[in-house]
Amino acid sequence: MKSKLIKKINRLKKEKNAVILAHNYQIEEVQAIADYTGDSLGLSQKAADIEEDIIVFCGVDFMAESAAILAPNKTVLLPEINAGCPMAEMITAEKLREKKKEYPDAAVVCYVNSSAAVKAESDICCTSSNAVEVVKAVSNKQILFVPDQNLGHYVSQQTDKEIILWDGYCITHHRMLPEYITEVREAHPKAPIIVHPECRPEVVELADFVGSTGQITKYAQESNAETIIVGTEMGILYKLRLQNPDQNFYLLNQGLICQNMKLTSLENIAEALEKMQYRIEVDNQTRIKAQEALDKMLEING
Ligand code: 13P
Ligand code: SF4
Repeated sequence: MKSKLIKKINRLKKEKNAVILAHNYQIEEVQAIADYTGDSLGLSQKAADIEEDIIVFCGVDFMAESAAILAPNKTVLLPEINAGCPMAEMITAEKLREKKKEYPDAAVVCYVNSSAAVKAESDICCTSSNAVEVVKAVSNKQILFVPDQNLGHYVSQQTDKEIILWDGYCITHHRMLPEYITEVREAHPKAPIIVHPECRPEVVELADFVGSTGQITKYAQESNAETIIVGTEMGILYKLRLQNPDQNFYLLNQGLICQNMKLTSLENIAEALEKMQYRIEVDNQTRIKAQEALDKMLEING
């Protein structure tokens, strides 16, 4: 059954000249058939540079939207229309416009986990892998960092900027508590604990390494540790185990699951290609402004 579906996807991909991009949190079988897997920055860079006519984006809606902004002449499909990001929904363009009035001298740095309309209201975007670099590159002393309070706090610890935080957070990473680290340290005293910067400051403080999903996979490849404890969404385990078969990887806690990232399946990827659904489009006015903010970020990461 699965092999039939994979054949169908590969046939449709060829016929339609499509490419499949998948985030590191996707289910194993989706990551396995993708042409490219990566973190938000890697996927944005890839989308901006794609040759095929169609991008099937296996992730959540803001990621497909970023691809549509960066590759305006391509057709971008999100196989599962209900795959959203609760954090991205914690801010609207209207609320951001209001906040900007309170801080007229601040530059708005917007985490890519946000809608196109919010990006269009921002000066520059960032991802979890380049947030510190982006904030340092902005000339303003004051930064309005939206929407992730935890990533914003992490950045504030590494720059001398005045960072104003929005109160958004990732419901998956925010569930992680410092006591989980203390417990796991007792059980695995030699194992490095590596976490995503979307975790709470109290968790980040106790970790041995903090990074995006791409940086976490790089860390593991360069580490000689027998066992590594991972504080990010469980989907990352697929790549970690594939790339490092001799190492043991354990999740910091079983609550590290993002339901939205689990909605995409081989079935709906095949359907997406067959029916050309669900097309992600951004109106031109929003797209142009959002693209400026994304392009400025991509210029920093050359
Ligand atoms: P990265 O893959 O860029 O670290 O993003 C994590 C995330 O939460 C995406 O939704
Ligand atoms: Fe959003 Fe968190 Fe899920 Fe990423 S892991 S899509 S930030 S809810």
